[in-house]
Amino acid sequence: MNFKVLTLFPDMILNTLKTSITGRAMESGCLNVSAYDIRDYAFNKHKSVDDYPYGGGAGMLMQAEPIFQAYQDITKESKEKPRCIYLTPQGQTFTQKMAEEFAQEEELVLLCGHYEGIDERVLEEVVTDYVSIGDYVLTGGELPAMILIDAVSRLIPGVLHNDASAEFESFQENLLEYPHYSRPEEWRGKKVPEVLLSGHHLRIEEWRREQSILRTALRRPDLLEKADLSEKEQEFLGK
Ligand code: ADE
Repeated sequence: MNFKVLTLFPDMILNTLKTSITGRAMESGCLNVSAYDIRDYAFNKHKSVDDYPYGGGAGMLMQAEPIFQAYQDITKESKEKPRCIYLTPQGQTFTQKMAEEFAQEEELVLLCGHYEGIDERVLEEVVTDYVSIGDYVLTGGELPAMILIDAVSRLIPGVLHNDASAEFESFQENLLEYPHYSRPEEWRGKKVPEVLLSGHHLRIEEWRREQSILRTALRRPDLLEKADLSEKEQEFLGK
């Protein structure tokens, strides 16, 4: 998987993603993240890439041409034009389902905005997907881009060493994941639920399913509406 990030702060992207699991995945070759400095495509001697908005208003805008040149340059060897995701609070809210869809792509371009935004005309020209990471406004698109890269990367075969750990997890089937316990068996008076020590796989599976449902009902009742529950499970919830 190839991520190409268009940004004014390439070091922010590379220095962060080089640590931990994404870093290891990049070393092993199953993940490739390149960050391109939009300023390298500035066309004036001051290397500025922003300008005042027509019609007035607060702040500056990122200009169209440097972004267009950067996009053309980094995609010139692509067989097909890759999807280009613009991270913006005006986008569709990012979900696990979208992460799964993006994980199918071979190459993705991520465009990070700054200042008050980007000249609309270049967005019309290059952007295929508008993605937000939530209903709040950040100073730029770099953190959202890294969140997207992280969520997508862990779905790529070979990135998580234990492939099963991406298999059942929160949001799959619109249920939150069940609680986890490790050693010791008793910690500060709190015991690991008996069933997990029983070695009885079927009972463990049933217990985990029940805990997932209860936890979702308690913390994310909005998700539960979309979950596929058996009649018995609905009764159990008093529905
Ligand atoms: N840029 C600024 N805020 C953002 C958000 N919430 N999501 C994606 N990109 C952003």
